[in-house]
Amino acid sequence: MTSSVIQPGDIGEVAVIGLGLMGSGIAELIARSGRRVDAIEINQSFLDQGMARLHASLDKAVSRGKLTDTARDEILARIRPTDDVSAGVADADLVIEAIPERIELKKALFAQLDEACRADAILATNTSSLSVTEIAGGTRYPARVAGLHFFNPAPVMKLVEVISTVLTPPEIAETLALLSRDLGKTPVGVSDRAGFIVNALLLPYLNHAVHLLETAQATREDIDKAATAGLGLPMGPLTLLDLIGLDTCLAVLETLQDEFGGTRYVHAPLLRKLCDAKLFGRKSGRGFYDYRRQSTVADHELAPVPGEVALIRERDGRLDELASQITAAGIGVVPQPSDETGLVIVAADPRHRVLDAALAAGHPAEVVGVHFAAAGNAKPGLAELVLPDVTAAGTAAKAAALAARIGLNAVVSRDRPGFLIEALAYAQFNDAVRMFQDGYASPADIDTAMMLGCGYPRGPLQMLDEAGAANVVGVLEAMHAATGDPAFTPVPLLAEYATAGNLFRAGAEG
Ligand code: 3HC
Repeated sequence: MTSSVIQPGDIGEVAVIGLGLMGSGIAELIARSGRRVDAIEINQSFLDQGMARLHASLDKAVSRGKLTDTARDEILARIRPTDDVSAGVADADLVIEAIPERIELKKALFAQLDEACRADAILATNTSSLSVTEIAGGTRYPARVAGLHFFNPAPVMKLVEVISTVLTPPEIAETLALLSRDLGKTPVGVSDRAGFIVNALLLPYLNHAVHLLETAQATREDIDKAATAGLGLPMGPLTLLDLIGLDTCLAVLETLQDEFGGTRYVHAPLLRKLCDAKLFGRKSGRGFYDYRRQSTVADHELAPVPGEVALIRERDGRLDELASQITAAGIGVVPQPSDETGLVIVAADPRHRVLDAALAAGHPAEVVGVHFAAAGNAKPGLAELVLPDVTAAGTAAKAAALAARIGLNAVVSRDRPGFLIEALAYAQFNDAVRMFQDGYASPADIDTAMMLGCGYPRGPLQMLDEAGAANVVGVLEAMHAATGDPAFTPVPLLAEYATAGNLFRAGAEG
């Protein structure tokens, strides 16, 4: 390789190989920046599909008044589609590979690029989690191979992870970072490690959501709502799995599992089953949800609202507001249940079983726990209605009817530590601390990556600070005790911060 490294301003032609969901978005982004794009697929049929996706995206922008007809035509004129890889990359200053996540395919392609590209071209892979070093290893000039990882939908999400291997000179990483800025993105530089920042935190969280679904902790809608209404995330995990593609998610989990081992990355059996059934999510029409027809949410009749509710109040006043709301709706509230009481409400704590409070209150079959997620959430107000397994079938329906009557935004969870919101969030916070503890990324970079890559309102470590490290440790310990799963053991650094009362994002804007 020549000693001079291409500068961002010199990158006038970019070859994008693989025009799937990510590749077509990346090609669009680059053509919009005024650069020429070689849009490459391995055969005419894939090329037609990729270009159709790209056309549709630009047409949508025109129809929404975001782009003029002329601008669209100019963008398209800069794109040269081809199914001839070697010819397509011959003049490119930069190649971005976005083919399926299979190491043997990527290595074969990079061997071909090695021959076909100019010696000074930079070769970037958009791999989600495979080893950039291994991909580089089979080439003549491995130092020019780096990772440039975009997020779905590529035209929208602001993050780009720039991945350096031990061989990447800082100038190449710098050029890719400057190019990313020029494309309107924010680059975060990382070294080559499975999942980099975002996927190493996102995928175990998504997988955990699948576990919750397949172990009947809640419905798919309530799991998603816990993340959106409870944590303020833009999408629920099951919807996001469908957006990314279940096959891609499974592949990333397998890479994480190979690199890190343990139990946290073992894929949920349901994820594999859906992939075996070719239900890959949005791109195949069906995944956790069915996109082929309008959703038909059954307008099921609500159960009658009980005339009298027993509400076992806490000394700390946690349920006082709920008591006032119920009374205001014309429903009697009593402090202890009697035979006339239709529903018994107790305060639920994600560290403890509601069952014990239900037994203490008497009438366990009529008990529902209520927990308002307060910890690290952007939109307080979502109530988790927690049902011990001894609860009578009709109790959930009565609780749902009551919630609807008083206008309470609610999800229903089985009585397992962490319930829904904190089980999902705190396990991810623990992973984020582990990443910092390992020296892989700073708390600020971790938070920036999750905010810009996945649309989080605040990063996981800032949310952890808001929830309180000691509280997070308490819930994680309860999850560990209940499941025996070592993945939920608080990592040592989190336990230390909890004891010392330290913040991970001290000084970060609230
Ligand atoms: N392509 C282009 N533009 C799109 C788009 C797409 N597929 N989807 C949405 N948009 C645009 C819309 O046109 C709209 O633009 P405007 O503000 O200029 O009008 C804007 O994005 C917002 O879209 P909507 O109002 O329709 O919808 P939302 O407000 O619900 O936002 C979302 C959609 C941006 C996808 C948001 O839900 C989100 O941020 N979700 C999280 C996505 C995420 O986590 N991505 C990362 C996945 S991990 C990954 O990709 C890594 C890989 O390696 C696995």
